[in-house]
Amino acid sequence: MEFSEDAAAFQRIVESRRSIRLFEKDPVPEAVIQHCLDLALLAPNSSNLQPWEFHWVRTPAKREELNRACLSQAAANTAAELIVCVARTRTWRRNCADMIRQIEELRAKGTRIPKATTDYYYKLVPFAYTQGPLSLLGFLKRIGTFFYGLARPTTREPLSHTDMKIWAIKSTALACENLMLAFRAHDFDTCPMEGIDSRRVRKLLQLPGDALVPMVLAVGKRRPAGVTLPRIRAERSWFVKIV
Ligand SMILES: Cc1cc2nc3c(=O)[nH]c(=O)nc-3n(C[C@H](O)[C@H](O)[C@H](O)COP(=O)(O)O)c2cc1C
Repeated sequence: MEFSEDAAAFQRIVESRRSIRLFEKDPVPEAVIQHCLDLALLAPNSSNLQPWEFHWVRTPAKREELNRACLSQAAANTAAELIVCVARTRTWRRNCADMIRQIEELRAKGTRIPKATTDYYYKLVPFAYTQGPLSLLGFLKRIGTFFYGLARPTTREPLSHTDMKIWAIKSTALACENLMLAFRAHDFDTCPMEGIDSRRVRKLLQLPGDALVPMVLAVGKRRPAGVTLPRIRAERSWFVKIV
């Protein structure tokens, strides 16, 4: 089957993205970085509560320290830029309030807003994402969910603070992928790094207690030697299941 030009372009971007461990000295234009960050923010995310943050570290002293917190990996040391990708488990209340504000603005301008949408943000979101002190509410919700779920399909997570971490990291990782593919589309390269000292990164950026650092992105122009191996993937049938 012949695919569309868009599909072919997307395939080129996906296939040419590699994790790059050595970068040239070429700078990445600020407009490119801002554009890629804008595209990252368009990633799909749970309940549109946007649990992510991207900290582009430009201050030279902080950058030095961040290199060290990235264990001085060659990707970090040689990258033109480093972006710390952060997942937040507690910003959803602010973001939900903003969703409601924007929905009400749309309604005031004449957009028809389904009742299910307003109910969702006014009622369901606070119920679903509040875990309560010591996860007491989560515990009660867990029992309620168990009995409710005996008779019918029901959402099972998030029911704990740990679930909230998974929840926030899930959506943030999707935005990270958008970011990496966006840089590739601009003919720049990235290396996602979880080989980091997250405690030092959090301290450096003075991140609040609910902030997690799923990865730091090294960004720059690839050096040919920055691709360590040809692309390797295991047997497709291990991963793709048609049921
Ligand atoms: C969450 C995550 C963390 C990673 N951490 C590191 C890292 O610390 N250092 C590194 O060199 N590569 C890191 N990588 C890159 C992987 O090793 C790489 O994606 C994998 O080997 C597949 O290669 P490819 O990205 O070129 O397809 C990470 C990738 C992901 C998604």
